[in-house]
Amino acid sequence: MSNYFRQYIRAVENPLPEMAEYFDKENFYLKNYVTPDSVILDVGCGNGRTMKFLAPYAKTVIGVDYDKKMIAAAGNNLSRFDNAKVIYCDFFHYQFKKMFDLSLASYNLLGSSELDPRRRPLLLQNMLECTKPGKHIVLSVWSDQGIEFANKYYPHIGIRVKKIEGNDVVTDHGIFKRFTKDELNHLAVATGREFQLLELTDIFYLLDLKA
Ligand SMILES: C[S@@+](CC[C@H](N)C(=O)[O-])C[C@H]1O[C@@H](n2cnc3c(N)ncnc32)[C@H](O)[C@@H]1O
Repeated sequence: MSNYFRQYIRAVENPLPEMAEYFDKENFYLKNYVTPDSVILDVGCGNGRTMKFLAPYAKTVIGVDYDKKMIAAAGNNLSRFDNAKVIYCDFFHYQFKKMFDLSLASYNLLGSSELDPRRRPLLLQNMLECTKPGKHIVLSVWSDQGIEFANKYYPHIGIRVKKIEGNDVVTDHGIFKRFTKDELNHLAVATGREFQLLELTDIFYLLDLKA
């Protein structure tokens, strides 16, 4: 992900209106689950964008990321929050047992070029295992409905789109997947949990599962 760091920072610090809408809507959706007692996990926290929004409303916010640059950026971004902590680790090698009131993985971690598609069910499973029974895990992913937005989004952050193949956007920084509702349904049903699939904006789906 290191090569992608600069582009990611551009995307979150200078978002296109469509992205700003997604960030806002997702933040406010997540905030509905947060109380002053909440302990929150952000998987693949990046520069701490979501943690920074949620920290004032929560007891503790923990972010994990396996990219050192992201962890450093998150550390700077969150320096004024005593209740925010970032951990440099691969989420798949870290076990937090049933300790979170909300676990999230935003901005298409599920469909990222770094995540082997065979590990998608495992990402959901590990997040469920980290989360207290009855509490929620929330993941957001690029939607198939908004795939054309790729032609605007990637050039804006300095990434070249080589082609769009089915629901995959092939770029000079790897392949970024778009999900169909059916694919998300399939993943969610396999967990055996209650879930909701939401379209908060035209470009992202949000999957909300009860642990
Ligand atoms: C698209 S960025 C999203 C960052 C942030 N959640 C946001 O919404 O702004 C995905 C992040 O997940 C991290 N990541 C990917 N796989 C990971 C893993 N297995 N363990 C920890 N972090 C991971 C990447 O380093 C990257 O920072």
